[in-house]
Amino acid sequence: MTNLTRIENLDCLPRDEMRVLLESYTPEDAECLFIRARKVRERVYGRAVYLRGLIEISSYCKNDCYYCGLRKSNQRAQRYRLSKEEILKCCEEGYALGLRTFVLQGGEDSWFDDERLCDIVHEIRRGWPDCAITLSLGERGRESYAALFEAGANRYLLRHETANEKHYQSLHPEELTLRNRLRCLRDLREVGYQAGCGFMVGSPGQTVDCLLDDLDFLRDFRPEMVGIGPFLPHGDTPFAQEPPGSPELTLLLLGIVRVLLPGALLPATTALGTASPDGRERGLLAGANVIMPNISPARVRGKYMIYDGKETRGMEGLQGRVEGLGLEITNVRGDAIELE
Ligand code: 5AD
Repeated sequence: MTNLTRIENLDCLPRDEMRVLLESYTPEDAECLFIRARKVRERVYGRAVYLRGLIEISSYCKNDCYYCGLRKSNQRAQRYRLSKEEILKCCEEGYALGLRTFVLQGGEDSWFDDERLCDIVHEIRRGWPDCAITLSLGERGRESYAALFEAGANRYLLRHETANEKHYQSLHPEELTLRNRLRCLRDLREVGYQAGCGFMVGSPGQTVDCLLDDLDFLRDFRPEMVGIGPFLPHGDTPFAQEPPGSPELTLLLLGIVRVLLPGALLPATTALGTASPDGRERGLLAGANVIMPNISPARVRGKYMIYDGKETRGMEGLQGRVEGLGLEITNVRGDAIELE
């Protein structure tokens, strides 16, 4: 049995002991971890919770990932793309609400080529020079990442999904490889982005060993941001009948990652908020310090369905719920803090 109170330094925990923790943690272990995670967060970031305005720019995707509702084979997915004007309007409204980071997220949609994207990024950079621009647009070439960085983007989110080669292959068609995923992440970092990776908890075929591989990868890559959410099935995908991932295990992993990477920006993800009604709050209590309210235009809300039941909450009621936890929403960019 693991008794987390006995473990002084998670960072040096041998793989076997981490395995025991993941396999047989008790509610007391989890609570003890969350207390530690909150202390670490407080030391680095104080009470701040950072907001990122999420703009879902395209639901078209050329990929066919088995878990995702936006996969190209899903004929029932509702496809849309936002115009440049719509995206800029989201930024304008978001800025008025106090947001200082805009996240442009989308499927891998070749309509959004470098020329169109650079133009949009450039306009946002010009219009809101005090804001951070985060992109989350999948795998692209290094030249493309560099051009977008040059145009004014600062951060890039690209979840690695799983650091285990075999598991990666079982979640994706052949043409998608872990090798290229990691190549992208390294390119992003070298180009100058703050890089975000991340993984789903409880995706089909995931074993505790896969999660240990994820933690090893994070320790090694030391990303500025890590998105962790439970897998949730989508009815029109090959994984429709698979069980959802556990919110509790997701929270435990959030806490572990907070302790392993004290300076990381960790969102209480939408998937966590969907899996459990107070999921986002529990995420913050487990060590997360970022919330990503959806600021996509009303006409497309509910069309970016990567899993069933995805909640589309915007800013409503956020302040009160965060303050209820003894934390405070801050209207600053909220870049990652570099620790030595
Ligand atoms: N359940 C949970 N998360 C999912 N994602 C994609 N499909 C699902 C799903 N069915 C996550 C992936 C992707 C991110 C945008 O959403 O990790 O990188």
